[in-house]
Amino acid sequence: MVLVDLSADRRREQSATGLLNAAEQDRAARLILPGAGREFVLCRAALRALLCSALDCDNADLTFRTETHGKPYALVRGRVAPVSFNVSHSGDHGLIAIAPHGRVGVDIETHDWAFDLPAGLLSVFSVRERGDFAETRDDARWRQRFYRYWTLKESLIKGVGLGFAMNTTRFDLPSALRRGEADGVFRFHHQPTANWHLATFGNRAFTAAVAIDYSGRGMSPHESGPSPRTHRRRFSRLPAGPRALGPVTRPRVVRHPHLTPDP
Ligand SMILES: CC(C)(COP(=O)(O)OP(=O)(O)OC[C@H]1O[C@@H](n2cnc3c(N)ncnc32)[C@H](O)[C@@H]1OP(=O)(O)O)[C@@H](O)C(=O)NCCC(=O)NCCS
Repeated sequence: MVLVDLSADRRREQSATGLLNAAEQDRAARLILPGAGREFVLCRAALRALLCSALDCDNADLTFRTETHGKPYALVRGRVAPVSFNVSHSGDHGLIAIAPHGRVGVDIETHDWAFDLPAGLLSVFSVRERGDFAETRDDARWRQRFYRYWTLKESLIKGVGLGFAMNTTRFDLPSALRRGEADGVFRFHHQPTANWHLATFGNRAFTAAVAIDYSGRGMSPHESGPSPRTHRRRFSRLPAGPRALGPVTRPRVVRHPHLTPDP
């Protein structure tokens, strides 16, 4: 996992834009909400740099397509790349997770303590989860719990690839995570053989979560690359350090012991 610094920096943004292809540059130009273009450009450039490094390919050979609900996947010279990844961006903070195989989803939310989070947002949670919000809404713990639950749920629905087309009220986060532990395993009722490893982390500025399913069942249609062995070998080439990203981003690699691939 790599945290990407998305704070405003015109020079960095310019060099990041240069790494994007014409379609991506066109998309960036159409993003008019404040900060949206910058978030997309810096995150996409960082993703390109990381994927080129992991897949040992040239930036010009890398393209993206999306699944039905918008989840991007990568192609190298027109062939689906043997790698899983997901991206999230919020304000000055971006998060990219790359896995050798399986499915991965991430979410990051920049804290905005001044913004009055409406209680209605709780409607994305299950009845049981809503019951956990015993504190009053102006309590800092209410917000911390909100950001934690929100990012965990969103990492799951992004891992699956359906996003909010999925009904997030229909499943409960694992009780360990709801009690405040940093990681846990989640299974959907309809897919009990898929083990989603969930982890949450953050600091004063943001809360983030990652969901990874290495079981290989119910994988997205694009995931038909070489065997997991090949994926692992290729993945081990990922340096994910500042050298790999050049001047485009200031990355910080986050490792989580519970999110390594099954042996
Ligand atoms: C995926 C989704 C939850 C992301 O929401 P968000 O909080 O605004 O954005 P985040 O910053 O966390 O993530 C954005 C990134 O997620 C990725 N993404 C987009 N759609 C995705 C999906 N369905 N699953 C997983 N990842 C997705 C993209 O990489 C995107 O970044 P990019 O545009 O820079 O490439 C939201 O866009 C969604 O629900 N999409 C599906 C919509 C849909 O099908 N709706 C049907 C009717 S409800």
